[in-house]
Amino acid sequence: MLRPVCRRTAMAAAPLAANVRTGCCRNVRALCSARHPPTNTGSPPPIASYLPYLSSPRRFLSTPAATLQDSASPHHPPSPPKPDLKALPNKFTILGRPYTRHAHTNVTPTIISKTDRRLHLQPNHPINILKRRIESHFPSFTPIDSLDPVVTTQQNFDSLLFPPDHIGRAATDTYYVNANQVLRTHTSAHQAEVLRRREDEAFLLTADVYRRDEIDVSHYPVFHQMEGVRTFSRSELEREVMQDPVMKDSGSSSSSSSSSIQGAVLSPTNPIQPAHTRTDALLVDLHLRTSLESMVRSLFREDPDLQIRWIEAYFPFTSPSWEMEVLYRGQWLELLGCGVIQQSILDSSNNADRVGWAFGLGLERIAMVMFDIPDIRLFWSRDERFLNQFKAGDIVKFQPFSKFPVCYKDISFWCPDGFHDNDFADIVRDVAGDMAEDVKLIDKFQHPKTKKTSRCFRINYRSMDRTCTNEEVDQIQDQVRRLAEEKLGVELR
Ligand code: DAH
Repeated sequence: MLRPVCRRTAMAAAPLAANVRTGCCRNVRALCSARHPPTNTGSPPPIASYLPYLSSPRRFLSTPAATLQDSASPHHPPSPPKPDLKALPNKFTILGRPYTRHAHTNVTPTIISKTDRRLHLQPNHPINILKRRIESHFPSFTPIDSLDPVVTTQQNFDSLLFPPDHIGRAATDTYYVNANQVLRTHTSAHQAEVLRRREDEAFLLTADVYRRDEIDVSHYPVFHQMEGVRTFSRSELEREVMQDPVMKDSGSSSSSSSSSIQGAVLSPTNPIQPAHTRTDALLVDLHLRTSLESMVRSLFREDPDLQIRWIEAYFPFTSPSWEMEVLYRGQWLELLGCGVIQQSILDSSNNADRVGWAFGLGLERIAMVMFDIPDIRLFWSRDERFLNQFKAGDIVKFQPFSKFPVCYKDISFWCPDGFHDNDFADIVRDVAGDMAEDVKLIDKFQHPKTKKTSRCFRINYRSMDRTCTNEEVDQIQDQVRRLAEEKLGVELR
């Protein structure tokens, strides 16, 4: 069983096994270690305080939070538009394409409204700057970045060998457009279709991806991933690998890259596929990890002694599989998942004569670290004070422009059967939009007689660009209470 790196992905875990999900690439998702997130003091936390949060997983439930304080900020931009609380109509569109509401549909108007933002294509946006940096490191890889976010469950799961009972398919984790279509939960969803075209032996595919999840400064239901795929002719494998400049560079460099690769030995729990000879698998694996180390060293070039480690992982679509972590400011930070592509995926996508590797990384996770961006909601900001700080080609440190106060409100209720925390998070998102900074389960218990479960959530409200009034937050909280009752059938306490 894998190390519980990050409950993320849908993508990475063994089917419905434990609740530990492994693997990641859920950009900044990370939930498994018992750490307190930064406390709310009204100012953005320093990078050191959210690094642990990015790099590691499960959080304490009882985090101290500040109450609403008076803000001294002189800047009061206009109030944000009122949240769109309309229920999704029977007929709706996503990027201009018509869909019909269905019993399985759980996309919300709030989520659909994100589909046309395409932050990865906005010039001067940190996500685009990072995307271009990585693309420039892989000049021979074809960039692909405009694929529709609505994909079939076949593309998102079956084509990648996800078992039918995999947790990632659950409606609690994935936005379903209807029974057969979802908002892609990862860029790997497009691997097979791009491979099938046989136009590119190497590509970098960037896209927005969507996952139902909890709310905090490092989680957002939409984020951006980059998928890299490289294939080789089976008959020319050794020559193609050994003559690649990346292999020569790594051999001559004084970096520690080669030793960190040797340090991770292929094991029975991270096996070579029966379809591959040992030599072939080792060649692909070596090329994969050498290429990724070279890319990451160039991203973190200000730290020439960057330490990298490879952790065994499990993904249904690769074997052997790895997660790469880097030691950044004293914390191991998980950056990406990768592996040797399952041969059956290549075989069934018109590539039986080829072998290859793939990786997937979350762009927000890396951008938060590289640009010192303390809250994932900032990426979605249209505030010039955020946007004007970044310029194509430059990695600069974000200068926080203000401190706006936080206000927390608690809500407690008895839960009906089948209640899921992510359903509640979606209601908060719909009502509060980006004013919801964090939603934490701070108490949960079962009534000894009735066996009903009660949950208490603490919602931290904080605007990124202005001071919210207590009245406004009260109104939002009332709406959250009402909708939780109406839509989720909870019994307020
Ligand atoms: N799709 C995976 C996720 O979202 C990330 C990933 C892991 C992509 C391994 C890959 C890969 O291409 O080989 O968690």
